[in-house]
Amino acid sequence: MATNFRGRSLLTLLDLSTADVRYLLDVSHLLKAERTGFQVDQRFRGKTLAMLFEKRSTRTRCAFETAFGEEGGHPVFLSSSDIQLGAKESIEDTARVLGRMFDAIMFRGFKQETVDALHEYSGVPVYNGLTDMFHPTQILADLMTMEENLGQLSGLEFVFTGDGGNNVANSLMIGCAMMGVNCTILAPEELHPEGELVDTVRGIADRTGASLRILTDPSEAIPGADVIYTDVWVSMGEEDQAAERIKLLQPYRVTEEMMEMTGKAETIFMHCLPAVKGNEVTMEVIEGPQSVVWDEAENRKHTIKALMVASLL
Ligand code: CP
Ligand code: NVA
Repeated sequence: MATNFRGRSLLTLLDLSTADVRYLLDVSHLLKAERTGFQVDQRFRGKTLAMLFEKRSTRTRCAFETAFGEEGGHPVFLSSSDIQLGAKESIEDTARVLGRMFDAIMFRGFKQETVDALHEYSGVPVYNGLTDMFHPTQILADLMTMEENLGQLSGLEFVFTGDGGNNVANSLMIGCAMMGVNCTILAPEELHPEGELVDTVRGIADRTGASLRILTDPSEAIPGADVIYTDVWVSMGEEDQAAERIKLLQPYRVTEEMMEMTGKAETIFMHCLPAVKGNEVTMEVIEGPQSVVWDEAENRKHTIKALMVASLL
C-alpha cells in the first residue's frame, strides 16, 4: 500500500494508475473490516466537505455525507437551487470561493467540464460523484464487490449489457482495463461507447493484459461471463429518449435465460442502482440468489470513505 494519494482529486478513472486503484481498494477493505461500531474514529474532525448536486442521488449523497459525518467532518449539501453555481456566478468563481472555505468538494451534475473546472480553480481535492460522461466512485465500489464475491479481479470475464455509452459503462471499461478484467460492452450499435474512449481504454488494456470487446450479439457476449452488469436504459437528463431506448434495448435485458447463458452457476449480477425492474433487469434476477446489488450499494460508502481518507489525511 505504498501509493500516496494525499491532495489528489478523482475526476475520471483515467487520472489514476493501476497502483492507485489497488491502494484505494485496499484501504476500502480495511475500512469495511473495522466498521464494528465499537470504535469511533474522528478522522475528518474539523474538516468540511462541499457537496454540489445538479442531479438527484440516494447512494452517492448518502455515502459521502455519512462517511464524512461519522468521522467527525461537516458535510454541506448544496443543490443547484441553493447556490449560484453557473447561474449568477461562474463555475470558476464558485470554485475559488469554495476552495477558501472547504477542505474538499464533491460534484454531481451534467458536464464533465464543470467538475474539471472545480478542480482547476478550487485548489482542494474534488470528487466526481457522476457526470454525463463518467461515474468513477461507482466503479471503485463495483471492483470492491467483485473482489469480495469472486476473490480476485485479474482475469475475470465481465459483461456490461444495455446503454453501452453511458457514464457507468464508460467508467467500467476504464476500471476493468486498469485492473486486468476482461470487459465486454454488449449494446446495440447506436449505443456503443465513443471511439476515442475505446481507443484510450484499449491502450490501458494492452498494458495490463486485459481484453476489451464491443459486441451487439448476446449469444456471442454472454457465454463464460463471471459478472453480468447493467444500468438504467435512460440516464438522468435523457428522459426525452425513453421511448426509443426501450424499443432498442429489449434484447439486452438481464433475464434468468441470460444468466443461464453464461454456463456458470456462480456468475454474479450487478447494477449500480437505482433500477427500473422489468426494463433492464427482471424482478427474478435482481431479487435472485446471484444478485449482489445490496453489497454493491453498501460498498459505495466504504470506497468513498477510503477515497476521502486517502486524499485528505
Ligand atoms: N449508483 C448511484 O450513483 O446511485 P445514486 O444515483 O442514488 O447516487
Ligand atoms: N447512468 C445512470 C446512473 C445512475 C447512478 C444515470 O446517469 O442516471
